[in-house]
Amino acid sequence: MELNVKTTLAPDTRSDCLVVGVFERRKLSAAAQELDAALEGRLTALLKSGDMDGKEGTHLLLPDPGPIPARRILLVGCGKEKDFDARRYRKALTTAVKALQKRHVRDAVNYLPDLPVRDRGLPWRIRLAAETLQQADYRFDALKSEKDTPPSLRRMTLNVIDKAHLPKAKRALAIGNAIAGGANFARELGNLPGNVCTPSYLASTAQKTLKAFPNMKVRVLKQKDIEALKMGAFLSVAKGSEQPPRLIVVEYRGADADERPVALVGKGITFDSGGISIKPSASMDEMKFDMCGAAGVLGTMHMLGELQPPINVVAVVPSCENMPDGGANKPGDIVTSMSGQTIEVLNTDAEGRLILCDALTYAERFKPRAVVDVATLTGACVIALGKHPAGLLGNDDTLIRRLLDAGEKAGDRAWQLPLWEEYQDQLKSNFADMANIGGREAGAITAACFLARFTKKLKWAHLDIAGVAWESGNRKGATGRPVPLLSQYLLDQCGRDYTLE
Ligand code: BES
Ligand code: MN
Ligand code: ZN
Repeated sequence: MELNVKTTLAPDTRSDCLVVGVFERRKLSAAAQELDAALEGRLTALLKSGDMDGKEGTHLLLPDPGPIPARRILLVGCGKEKDFDARRYRKALTTAVKALQKRHVRDAVNYLPDLPVRDRGLPWRIRLAAETLQQADYRFDALKSEKDTPPSLRRMTLNVIDKAHLPKAKRALAIGNAIAGGANFARELGNLPGNVCTPSYLASTAQKTLKAFPNMKVRVLKQKDIEALKMGAFLSVAKGSEQPPRLIVVEYRGADADERPVALVGKGITFDSGGISIKPSASMDEMKFDMCGAAGVLGTMHMLGELQPPINVVAVVPSCENMPDGGANKPGDIVTSMSGQTIEVLNTDAEGRLILCDALTYAERFKPRAVVDVATLTGACVIALGKHPAGLLGNDDTLIRRLLDAGEKAGDRAWQLPLWEEYQDQLKSNFADMANIGGREAGAITAACFLARFTKKLKWAHLDIAGVAWESGNRKGATGRPVPLLSQYLLDQCGRDYTLE
């Protein structure tokens, strides 16, 4: 969808549809009041008659609104004005796009960004509008022979009350578009099935898509290269599958060559059957989403490519399948990681940490000032935190703080879990330096404890996105998280042109 920002007066604006907010109960927003005056009280009368009272999630379409040039007015319920916060603002935007799409409206002028959102300024409101609208516009029909009817909503103008704020609003729009572009790229990769999105597909798509951007370099390491690096833990997982593994390395250099990069590491298991410790078959199809960490990292690189901010970022994505072929890891097998530490594979379904540990060791060579790994790592994280925040653990308080703040700002939240020494005992092995599982208790934490043994030389944080990377049920599909969080974290380090504060 094409978005732009403009300063317009609702009663004078020609458009297929004007979108304005109504608060509970029956309180017209400023733009709605102006329309009401031009329509001699028709909106007030409509609300009085009980057709709408402004409740969250509701809307009412007014066709042919008489003397004004617009062809329709869409009233969007925003809930109580004093409760109108980031979450409700997003909900109002989503309600609006859905209503417009259903009625095949082609272009619209949206006055919702004018509404005062608690604790948020204009640039944030524009950015979030762009993100929300572009993400609502996404659909996955690449593999349907009959395509969903193409979205008819082609253009939308976001209104900005004060002309003086237009330059800032334009920047915010560009940022929102880039984040949504990155998130939608991640969703597309996530939604593709395991037989299409294999490790080599992931690598060639990353290469094709990302190398088109300036300041971006993509390198793909194959089986032989990975062997030469002695990534024994990663290779042991890949051995159980017919599909060869890939290590995808993307470097974005937007700042001086001597500035140390941030490293992002993403779990790229394109299908997780569990291996010999095979998973139960119910919902196993959802394990095609086990590369959503990789997708989130590549989506964030996509955002950087589009925006070209002054920062250096390296992405490292280990990718393979976890399958129970004759060459697969067997419970009890002991493998040697790139770091030299040995690992007893007590459960072949705890494969994410096996590929990540070698990727984290590899990341050391970039001398990163911070490393964040992103992984659909544990079902235990979903049990602990549910589906709203990602789990966050790490060895550096400043880094953790920055990531938590970024998630809060971007509406893509994380919640910290403790990474205490005490938990390390659960990883003891009688036969190797460590086991790859830590028992039933605190599974999300012991998984991070495992990774912590490979990141002692780094400032490191780990995002467990098992609960947030995709939705199940009839809305099944990848969410694009944590692209907004990671984008915010990186852009926060790029100065005022990118923080817009
Ligand atoms: N990819 C899964 C984690 C997962 C499971 C994410 C379900 C989302 C939903 C991971 O590889 C895995 O299988 N983890 C095991 C670890 C266990 C064997 C210690 C798990 O969570 O059960
Ligand atoms: Mn697994
Ligand atoms: Zn997995």
